[in-house]
Amino acid sequence: MRLLVTGGAGYIGAVVARRLRESGHLPVIVDDLSTGHRAAVKGYDVAVGDFGDRRLIADLVAAKKIDGVIHLAASALVGESVRDPARYYRNNLERSLALLDVLREREVTRFVFSSTAAVYGEPVAIPMDEGHPTRPTNPYGETKLALETALQWYHAAHGMSFVSLRYFNAAGATRDCQLGEVHDPETHLIPNVLRAALTAEPVPVFGTDYATHDGTAVRDYIHVEDLADAHVLALERLEKKGGASVFNLGNGSGFSVMQVIETARRVTGRSIPVRAAPRRPGDPETLVASSQRARAELGWSPGLPDLESVLETAWRFACGRADGHRS
Ligand code: UFG
Repeated sequence: MRLLVTGGAGYIGAVVARRLRESGHLPVIVDDLSTGHRAAVKGYDVAVGDFGDRRLIADLVAAKKIDGVIHLAASALVGESVRDPARYYRNNLERSLALLDVLREREVTRFVFSSTAAVYGEPVAIPMDEGHPTRPTNPYGETKLALETALQWYHAAHGMSFVSLRYFNAAGATRDCQLGEVHDPETHLIPNVLRAALTAEPVPVFGTDYATHDGTAVRDYIHVEDLADAHVLALERLEKKGGASVFNLGNGSGFSVMQVIETARRVTGRSIPVRAAPRRPGDPETLVASSQRARAELGWSPGLPDLESVLETAWRFACGRADGHRS
């Protein structure tokens, strides 16, 4: 299929674009490069611009004969969303609705949406399946949930078929070390832990008083290439069945912040200093997926499910970058 990939120059988007190409699809990337990297999509068809720009999207859909959209572009930081909710309503909801308007006008009816575990909020049961109550604790999760709900109604009213993929914590780098996580500023746990391993600057541990086994927050870390695989499977499903579906994507194992740091100490062989810090507003205590539905209905099966392997790929990528900066 000829696919518009919004946010295709971002951390997850670039891995998805690569996987799509490997699977015989033709990705056309639209990215404003506000957080994405041009180098990550060298050799791809790239339009630098705003996915909410109706003219741009209408022109791309017509010129490139687009069959479907993978919508990854978003503001995606929990803490920032609590401080600046308007940015999240504007970027994740208003601009996405503009995108959907154009797709409706142009009769593009296949849509894969990057949703998030942040739609759930505090857990009432672990692991969380797709039927778990959705009560987001931050505007990021709230705006992602609002778009999911809009998609349900667009499906009913306009026949828009979609798959919404609720990512748990995307982590790691591609096995060949070419693509990995680079944000500025970096707020995510694993890159910050690995930076601490490289620099010996302590990594902050946000919250040591959660009701978890060691007091730190628990997440389900899923390798970025496993996430990418699910997009290809989602497209196959849309091609065969259409419909409106929602899938969790996680490994089903929860690791606390301190467990991630301990594992990183083993993988890197370095001492990683930590400093206790207050909880980050909007952070739920525990997010762990049940991905049984994705396994059963998409045929999805993570290839790098253990945290050590995920950290190894991220560590090789971080070392490669550090060497690059030195040389
Ligand atoms: N954390 C630290 N120190 C750091 C960075 C993070 O203790 O330096 C903690 C956070 O407070 C949180 C956990 O590590 O408890 C994971 O934090 P991340 O920032 O790595 O990831 P989040 O869980 O906040 O969010 C990520 C994505 C979201 C997605 C969510 C789904 O950024 O887009 O996973 O679980 F919605």
